Amino acid sequence: MNPWLQIPSNEYEEHMSAPGVQQLQVLNEIFRKVLDQFKPRSLCILGSTNGNGFEHLIGRDIETILGVDINYRYLAECRAWFAEELPSLNLLCVDIDQLDLHDSGLELIHAALIFEYVDVKKLLTKISGWLNYGGVLSVVLQMPSDSSEPVSETEFESIKKLSTVIKLVDIKEFFYIAEKNGLKEIYSSYVPLQKGKKFFVSYFKKMEIFKIG
Ligand SMILES: C[S@@+](CC[C@H](N)C(=O)[O-])C[C@H]1O[C@@H](n2cnc3c(N)ncnc32)[C@H](O)[C@@H]1O
Repeated sequence: MNPWLQIPSNEYEEHMSAPGVQQLQVLNEIFRKVLDQFKPRSLCILGSTNGNGFEHLIGRDIETILGVDINYRYLAECRAWFAEELPSLNLLCVDIDQLDLHDSGLELIHAALIFEYVDVKKLLTKISGWLNYGGVLSVVLQMPSDSSEPVSETEFESIKKLSTVIKLVDIKEFFYIAEKNGLKEIYSSYVPLQKGKKFFVSYFKKMEIFKIG
């Protein structure tokens, strides 16, 4: 069974907010900045958990909001908290490796700490097909650290199991696959975290393909 299905949302949140981790608030702020910068009218959040940062969607003019996660309990919480204030919210419980949104013409796809758990090449190729030309993929990747394990140590046994499935993403390879799929990097930065860890945040724009002749 996928270990993510065995992590209760309160343990996930407590782990992600623990003093030596403090990643929940950082991810929340990254999502707010992405929304402010791109003001999408349609977006998909891959690995949406129970809606970290969804409060920033309230009151914006957005026709389509799609949250995708493998854990239906996280999605049920997300629905309970946000469905009323976000009438355009749709939530899909599926393994992203099996997800197909066809030609969904999205303006933004936000993928924060999800590439570590899926087939990177397969997902980047699909994302390229789901974005409008000019649409943006915003990505948060966890960087390797000399001083910390990929899954930070806290008291939660359920979280420890993630170390059997997490695969940190090679940025060079990620950029290579993105470019091959018409996704051009337009911004990148590092965000420092607790215990020498850091996130890599990057935006990619889906470029139009010009046919010659
Ligand atoms: C680290 S959390 C994502 C954090 C969140 N994006 C944020 O900004 O706060 C990873 C999420 O991805 C989900 N997930 C992991 N593997 C998945 C898969 N194969 N398909 C769909 N969701 C998956 C987990 O259930 C979890 O909710």
